[in-house]
Amino acid sequence: MTFPNNFTWGVATSSYQIEGAVNEDGRGQSIWDDFCDTPGKIIDGSSGAAACDHYHLWQDDIKLIKSLNANAYRFSIAWPRVLPDGTGRVERRGLDFYDKLVDGLLEAGIEPYATLYHWDLPSALQYRGGWANRDIAEWFADYASLMARTLGDRVTQWMTINEPWCVSFLSHEIGEHAPGLRNGKLARQAAHHTLLAHGRAMQAVRACASQPAKVGIVLNYEPCLPFDANNPDDIEAARLADVQDPFHGWFTCPVFHSYYSPELMAQSGTDAPNIQPGDMALIAQHNDFLGINNYTVGRYRLQNGQPVRVRNQSAEHTLMDWEVAPEGLHSLLMRLHQETRGKVPMYVTENGSSFADQLVSTDGTSRIHDERRAAYLLGHVEATHQAIQKGVDVRGYFAWSLMDNFEWAKGYQQWFGIVHVDYATQKRTIKDSGWAFKKLASRD
Ligand code: FCB
Repeated sequence: MTFPNNFTWGVATSSYQIEGAVNEDGRGQSIWDDFCDTPGKIIDGSSGAAACDHYHLWQDDIKLIKSLNANAYRFSIAWPRVLPDGTGRVERRGLDFYDKLVDGLLEAGIEPYATLYHWDLPSALQYRGGWANRDIAEWFADYASLMARTLGDRVTQWMTINEPWCVSFLSHEIGEHAPGLRNGKLARQAAHHTLLAHGRAMQAVRACASQPAKVGIVLNYEPCLPFDANNPDDIEAARLADVQDPFHGWFTCPVFHSYYSPELMAQSGTDAPNIQPGDMALIAQHNDFLGINNYTVGRYRLQNGQPVRVRNQSAEHTLMDWEVAPEGLHSLLMRLHQETRGKVPMYVTENGSSFADQLVSTDGTSRIHDERRAAYLLGHVEATHQAIQKGVDVRGYFAWSLMDNFEWAKGYQQWFGIVHVDYATQKRTIKDSGWAFKKLASRD
């Protein structure tokens, strides 16, 4: 496989999943601290309070990233570290942390890709309604301005919101993520507000960064595929499922075409979001790139004329019970290329797999032979490569994740890292998938 010379090979993380140090240097409370404190929400009763202690080990972690040959690092900024109350009072020590991190990355020749929101909303804003309150677009714009003023002389790649579907539907309707609500109307309104916030943040970053900034959003997808690609009924089922697909309908459509899917709006009835004049134009501003998070696919069969999602028993599944299907990433890239008429550069901003690992020690050296994770990585990088060969403008691939970390409601019971973390000692050990990544990323 030959990739373009300037291809970005990155690893990705997020603040709450790795930083730990939740009570240090004036950091405010986040909705994930609260959620973890609520019995029954996290499978193993854990939290991100310590996580990978990246807040203290960031210098070692930069060396680790460098040792993997990555030329980019996607991290997120914890809003409550820099604005403990969400708005108003700025915490200088929080800003300093990201300042030093960015300097350290640049010194190591690693390009920082900063995500403004990866789910750790300041609790103070949740008390004011959180994502369900339309004012959040302005709160977020103010926070984005602060970060662009602080880092915008060095950071040129910005991502506004990570996976707005998770921020809205998974967290406000399905209730699996913080704040754990179960209200369809609120979820749809929250979805609309994530996009307003995205639009306002793009304006804020462009206005406040002193270097020309590239700004985009990160959307997650689970492409709808037929259970049996040779069965016309299954093909029809996948097509029908796609028409109702929330990832495209609630997010790709508004961001790139300025409308919500008419099918989803009709299905929502009185739960449809309230939209004010000018909103759709704000949402559909020019994006410098699209970040794509993809892990798996949905398989569909037809039952009484309706698409039904089924488990593909014969396929390999990860520990998350997600089907391994690199062809899904390939078809997704082709589809988004068409939808954006080839005009929007794309990055795979997250892709990876969770499997239980075994540390084997021989002669004092530890190894993790995670063949399945390495095969997953190679399969998906190949799928990306094929799309590039067909003319799709994919600029980079970020492995999720740099290291094992706090996997939200699944606690520490999932392992996505290409680097193993021993949480008792905080020792990092590169897994075989990490060595495979290093080989892919070596540009000699
Ligand atoms: C994505 C999240 C990321 C991680 C992976 C496994 O939805 O963005 O934080 O949890 O899933």
